[in-house]
Amino acid sequence: MNNNPIGVFDSGVGGLTCLKELGKLLPNEDIVYLGDTARVPYGTKSKETIACYAKQDIAFLEKYNVKMILIACGTVSSVLMSEDLFCDSEVKLNSGVIYPAVKSAFAATRNKKIGVIGTPATIRSGCYGKALRELCSDIRVVSKDCPLFVPLVENGYTNKDNKVTRLVAQEYLEVMIKEGVDTLIMGCTHYPLLKDIFADILGDKVTLISPGAEAARYSARILMQNGLLTDKKEQGSLRLFCTDSEELFAQNVASFLGNEENAEILKCTL
Ligand code: DGL
Repeated sequence: MNNNPIGVFDSGVGGLTCLKELGKLLPNEDIVYLGDTARVPYGTKSKETIACYAKQDIAFLEKYNVKMILIACGTVSSVLMSEDLFCDSEVKLNSGVIYPAVKSAFAATRNKKIGVIGTPATIRSGCYGKALRELCSDIRVVSKDCPLFVPLVENGYTNKDNKVTRLVAQEYLEVMIKEGVDTLIMGCTHYPLLKDIFADILGDKVTLISPGAEAARYSARILMQNGLLTDKKEQGSLRLFCTDSEELFAQNVASFLGNEENAEILKCTL
């Protein structure tokens, strides 16, 4: 048993897709979330810059004595595979989103054609493809970087009928239709906020995988297996930190999470 909070971070609001699932699975856990909204997007930056930001995010969460750090960011998770972001960290229990998403996509595919969309940094790293091919060498992976999705989400262009987002999505997803993928990893945690648009364009035969939600399930299992769940009976606290405007962040939190009465929104510097 361990009553310390769970730390979760992302470059912005995308990690809320992970938080939502974590809250459902482990409602008694205290959670500290960091969205580095002043520096979002991470996905168009170099590997060195992303690693440097990620180390600062981890150091921030460590101050809250977190028992686990969940990297709710596809971009940082892809850098994590080649850089040891946790080498100076005392928090040894951590998870990114790649492995849980890949496991779930592999279980879902029937024709072994899996699509991956993500930020330029994630797609450039090839991490999803590598992880999928380790599971099965004859799997076909179709990748596409989608740099416009993160700014659209951060600015609230998430409505199913939003014409701008729909047009952009049609262009990005065309290759997935052409290649006949039956499973799509929404390889950036911001993207599930656009899943209704994706589902409309791809049709209901394509399974959409949310890496944040998968990582939340995976982390809950790890905590349970290690005997590290809280023994508190009351609803856990939710502290949401951002590095830029609290107002904009609060609006996004309200539209993505609903009215979380126990949520506290705070601004911080890293
Ligand atoms: N949610 C992050 C990810 O999963 C956003 C990337 C970004 O900041 O560009 O990759």
